[in-house]
Amino acid sequence: MTGTHPRLEIRNIVRDYDGKRVVDNVSLAIQPGNVTCLLGPSGCGKSTTLRIIAGVDMQTSGTIHVDGHLICDTVFRVPPERRSIGLIFQDFALFPHLTVGDNVGFGLSGSRKDKLPRVGELLERVGLSHYINEYPHQLSGGEQQRVALARAIAPRPSIMLMDEPFSGLDNRLRDGIRDETLALLKDEGTSVLLVTHEPEEAMRMADEIALMRDGKIVQRGAPYNIYNAPADKAAVAFFSDINLLTGTVRGALTDTPFGQFLAPGVPDGEEVEIVFRPQHVGIDFDRQGKGPNPTPLAGAPARATVERARFMGSESLVEFRMDHDQSMIRATVPNVFLPKPGTVMWLTVRRDRCFVFRKASGSVIKP
Ligand SMILES: Nc1ncnc2c1ncn2[C@@H]1O[C@H](COP(=O)(O)OP(=O)(O)OP(=O)(O)O)[C@@H](O)[C@H]1O
Ligand SMILES: [Mg+2]
Repeated sequence: MTGTHPRLEIRNIVRDYDGKRVVDNVSLAIQPGNVTCLLGPSGCGKSTTLRIIAGVDMQTSGTIHVDGHLICDTVFRVPPERRSIGLIFQDFALFPHLTVGDNVGFGLSGSRKDKLPRVGELLERVGLSHYINEYPHQLSGGEQQRVALARAIAPRPSIMLMDEPFSGLDNRLRDGIRDETLALLKDEGTSVLLVTHEPEEAMRMADEIALMRDGKIVQRGAPYNIYNAPADKAAVAFFSDINLLTGTVRGALTDTPFGQFLAPGVPDGEEVEIVFRPQHVGIDFDRQGKGPNPTPLAGAPARATVERARFMGSESLVEFRMDHDQSMIRATVPNVFLPKPGTVMWLTVRRDRCFVFRKASGSVIKP
C-alpha cells in the first residue's frame, strides 16, 4: 500500500473544548519525505492539531491515517508510542540526568553498545560528537536543540511533528539550525509537519504551507503560490504589510487614483478592495507637475507627498500621503533612497501584483 497513499493523512478533524470549536474540520495530507508547515496566528489551533496527531490529545471527530492505515478515530486508537511519529516541541526538554549520548539513544532499544553506532552517526551529523559524554546543562541553547533533534530522529520515525521548535533560539543561530534540521530530515526521508506562526520560517522550510485561521485551513499550496495567489485579504496581510484601496464597481470596472481595475462578474454598486504589498509600489520624481507616462503594467501614476521615511538596513520604508484622498500608501525601496518629508513624488503599482477582493465576501476576483 505504501507509495500510493500519503505518509500522513488527517480527515475532517474537529476538536471542541468546553463547547468551543478549536479545530474545525481540518484535513491535511503529507507525502513521503515532504515538509508541510501549519502556519497561522496565535490561538488558531495549530498545537491542538499536532497534539491530536501525536495521540496526546483526542479529536471530537475525524480520522488519522498513516500510509493508508487508520491509526485513530473516535473509537479505535493506536497509542502514541506505537505511531512511529517523532515529536519536537518548543520546550524540547532534554533529560538533565542523562549524558548527551544517552539522551540521543533514549528511544532506541538494546544496550548502550548496541545503540552507539546510531548515536555516534547522528551526533556527528549535528556536529556534536565531542559532547557525547557531557550533560545538557553544559551545552548552549542551540547545541541542546540539535541534541533534541538527534534524539527525535534516532528511532527513524517516518513522521516528525515539530511545534515551533526554533522559537527559543536567537536569530542568527536559528537560520543555521533550521537549514541543518531540514537537510537532516530530508536525508532521512522523514515526512514533517512543522507548526509555526512565522511566515518567513514557513516559506524557508516548507514544500507546502497550510494556512490556518480560527481553527480552519484557509489555503494550502507551495510557498510561492500562497504568497503570489492568496485566497483572501487576510492571507496577503499575514505575509507582509499591505496597502489597501477601496472602490465601487461600475460596468465591471472600478476607478482608483492608479487608474481603472477590472472587476469581472461583480455587480454595479458593489465595493471591491485592491490590495498590494509595499515592495510593489514604484516611485518617481515630480517633473514640473507631471509623473511618468501610464503603462499597461504599471497603470496610471498618482501624486503623493512623503510623510515619513525610515532607514531599515537593506531597504527604506517610505510613507506617502496621497493627494487624491489623503490616505496613506507605504512603499519599500532600496536603502540608498531616503526622501525628505514634504517631497512630492509619483507612485505606481505593479498591476500583476495587485489582488482584487469583493469587500463583502472577501473572495478574490480573477482578472
Ligand atoms: N486543554 C485545553 N482546554 C481548553 N482550551 C484549550 C486547551 N488547549 C487549547 N485550548 C484553546 O484552543 C485554542 C487553540 O489553542 P492552540 O494551542 O492549538 O493554538 P496555537 O495555534 O498553537 O497558538 P500559539 O501559536 O499561540 O501556540 C486556544 O483558544 C486555546 O485557548
Ligand atoms: Mg501552539
